[in-house]
Amino acid sequence: MGTLETRAIISLLIIALGSILTRAPFMMTSVAPSKQWADGPLALITTPQFQTKKTDIFTSGATHMALLHNSIFRGYNSIYHQAPLVADQDKADFVGYCLTWFKFVKSHHDDEEATLFPKVEELLKDKTIFEETHKEHESFLAGLAEFEKYLTGLKAHSDFSGDELLRIMNSFQQPFEQHFHSEIATISRFADHPNAPKQGTPENDAAAATFKAWGKSTVTKAGVTDVVPFFLLNLDRTVEDGTWANWPPMPAPIRWGLINLAGAWHSRWWRFASCDAAGQPQQLWAYRVANAKA
Ligand SMILES: [Fe+2]
Repeated sequence: MGTLETRAIISLLIIALGSILTRAPFMMTSVAPSKQWADGPLALITTPQFQTKKTDIFTSGATHMALLHNSIFRGYNSIYHQAPLVADQDKADFVGYCLTWFKFVKSHHDDEEATLFPKVEELLKDKTIFEETHKEHESFLAGLAEFEKYLTGLKAHSDFSGDELLRIMNSFQQPFEQHFHSEIATISRFADHPNAPKQGTPENDAAAATFKAWGKSTVTKAGVTDVVPFFLLNLDRTVEDGTWANWPPMPAPIRWGLINLAGAWHSRWWRFASCDAAGQPQQLWAYRVANAKA
């Protein structure tokens, strides 16, 4: 390849990188919340590890599940508060944000049923441990499906109605909240199951590895350019005295890349997220737009 061609390719790469970086979430200005934030109406979960200081594999597995559920909860809450306020010019992006939340929840649910729960049943040699959880899953699936159907069925994004979305969300909010809380208690209780592996045994190590591997793969396989930025931009790094500031554990440049490079793809959707690129709670975007108009 000639020198001119090499230079042209390098220039193109620099231009492409520049255009990605100008769209990256870290370029967005962030304002600290002064109004209702994404910590309600769904009540966020206190992690079992923070509450009990226990460190067995089930307390730790339930804790990581709680952190994941809280990202889903902040996502729900951020949608709930912004849906009635979203400006016409932002409706297409808001629908993209809402559908990513749906994809996150649906893949989380499907991956638990298909992968995690059978593995834990096998580990504890007990097929009954998730009976309640299966029933709870059933209780909100219809409402969740309606949420997606409404958003994908819009003929034009301008037809989006915040009131209609809230009506659908209210129809499954209670069982949804109840389930995401009770699943944490269920997993924590497995520490007292008669077949729970004892600390320091190979079975215990294998079980710990199962939780870890599942946690690692479940979000990335759901979607690197949508579910991953959604998940990371709804993780509040300040909670529980900053205990989880670096959760999930990964090298800082990888975290940065997942938020800012993968996140540049649909960057306008992430303005609605509850936290900024540094994982700090931020004022919800729709309030900022409404304030600027007032
Ligand atoms: Fe879960």
